[in-house]
Amino acid sequence: MRVFITGASSGIGAALARAYAAKGATIALVARREAALRQLADELANITAVQVFIYPLDVADAEALQAAASHFIARAGLPDVVIANAGVSVGTLTEEIGDIKAFERVFAVNVTGMVNTFAPFAAAMRTRGGGRLVGIASVAGVRGLPGAGAYSASKAAVFAYLESLRVEMRDCGVKVVTIAPGYIRTPMTAVNDYPMPFLMDTDVAAQHMLRAIDRGARCSVIPWQMGVVAILLRLVPDAIYDRLAARAGRKPRNLPL
Ligand SMILES: NC(=O)c1ccc[n+]([C@@H]2O[C@H](COP(=O)([O-])OP(=O)(O)OC[C@H]3O[C@@H](n4cnc5c(N)ncnc54)[C@H](OP(=O)(O)O)[C@@H]3O)[C@@H](O)[C@H]2O)c1
Repeated sequence: MRVFITGASSGIGAALARAYAAKGATIALVARREAALRQLADELANITAVQVFIYPLDVADAEALQAAASHFIARAGLPDVVIANAGVSVGTLTEEIGDIKAFERVFAVNVTGMVNTFAPFAAAMRTRGGGRLVGIASVAGVRGLPGAGAYSASKAAVFAYLESLRVEMRDCGVKVVTIAPGYIRTPMTAVNDYPMPFLMDTDVAAQHMLRAIDRGARCSVIPWQMGVVAILLRLVPDAIYDRLAARAGRKPRNLPL
């Protein structure tokens, strides 16, 4: 099996890489921090005799991703699973003019970065007639969270984008899988100073994700309890949602992106 994972230097992406390495997969690790990727590649090579390629790049850079994809295809072959996991989260407020840059960056990484990740593989996977294109969304994309307009909107865009792609790929054998995590214990959530219900460890979350990817699930919310929360969030009338959401904890602003 060949797996191409973005955002692999940390958190969920690194846990997915470990889980696929344990199955003997050949893996591409993509993220900006080369040292972290190299350290993980060494760790994986020590556990199993897997082949690991590292690609230090920014997913907002479409050309860099095309070059990485071409290199991986030439050396290892067309991936069976491509996971667009790289993402950034930061508090934003529309009334703060300076936050416009954060809005642009969050969209460039979380939304365009996902398109950049799938684009070099999609046509070849269609021709082959199989594989998985996996996008990491978020329960935060189900309704607009206060203080997180950029992140919530980017993940709502991810839900819609992945649905478009799923229907486009419907008859060719390529499954498009949307994974919507609730709260997973990673550096991204470590900065949150509010309660995080059903917080799950990354290795446990990665096992659930692998199963969802394996069976080609259209959409999987992890942990399942947050799936119930997501359904309720969708059903609750706007007036009640507004009252409840106004009390929700807020992500810190001005985090590095
Ligand atoms: N943790 C949660 O509770 C949770 C919940 C819902 C959704 N998610 C989603 O899950 C995904 C992974 O998040 P995480 O919690 O594992 O966070 P994390 O530990 O902060 O990991 C984020 C990963 O994305 C990479 N990344 C960020 N910007 C990038 C860029 N411009 N180009 C390439 N790589 C970039 C980071 O690597 P470098 O810094 O080395 O580039 C890192 O490997 C994200 O899409 C996030 O939105 C997480």
